[in-house]
Amino acid sequence: MASSPHSSSHLYFLLAFFLLLAAATAFPVTSEFELGRQRRIHFRVYFHETFLGPNNTTVTVVNMSLPNTFGDVDIFDAVLRTGPSKRSTEVGRAQGVSFHISQRDESSLIPLVLVFTAGDFCDSTLTVIGRLDDSGNADRAIVGGTGVFQFAWGNVVSKPVSSDDVGVVAAFDIYVVYYDGVRLTAIA
Ligand SMILES: *[C@@H]1O[C@H](CO)[C@@H](O)[C@H](O)[C@H]1NC(C)=O
Ligand SMILES: *[C@@H]1O[C@H](CO)[C@@H](O)[C@H](O)[C@H]1NC(C)=O
Ligand SMILES: *[C@@H]1O[C@H](CO)[C@@H](O)[C@H](O)[C@H]1NC(C)=O
Repeated sequence: MASSPHSSSHLYFLLAFFLLLAAATAFPVTSEFELGRQRRIHFRVYFHETFLGPNNTTVTVVNMSLPNTFGDVDIFDAVLRTGPSKRSTEVGRAQGVSFHISQRDESSLIPLVLVFTAGDFCDSTLTVIGRLDDSGNADRAIVGGTGVFQFAWGNVVSKPVSSDDVGVVAAFDIYVVYYDGVRLTAIA
């Protein structure tokens, strides 16, 4: 007679156990590292995007000419400033791609990197991904970072503050969790 379901599940358990053991020996862990003190901060930067003119920061690389811009792809290298005015200090760039993913409205899926080029976070980046809907409001996830923001996570809430045919300015409220003094060097 065939083995009972009970004994076959034992067999699977044993198999899984030996597979895990094999995996553990195949990737030897040599040390652990420290994350340091967790910090949770909020700050605001302004996203300045220009569609038209000689200093445009966005180019449309795919234009499907479908309703609701479905299928279009834009690449942008927008300016991050401390304020909504064009004259406010530049603190970085927002570089990413806007994939027009909706047949019903002009929503986009946007992976982007916030590259800080001045101030406390100079040379650090945050990687953000999420959806921007028709309203121009978005609530997007910070999925990681580099530099000061190594091992960061969090959320970016954005809303437009002004827009015209030439461009748009949006406020980015950045809520980020990161760690002071990450030590990637081995500890005992
Ligand atoms: C945007 O700038 C590029 C060059 O950087 C130019 O080829 C393109 O025509 C411009 N687009 C608009 C809409 O001004
Ligand atoms: C484009 O940028 C250049 C160099 O930064 C600047 O001198 C010029 O005034 C800008 N043009 C417009 C239309 O903003
Ligand atoms: C796409 O092409 C259509 C038809 O040529 C044009 O009317 C429209 O402005 C273009 N859209 C973009 C975003 O360039």
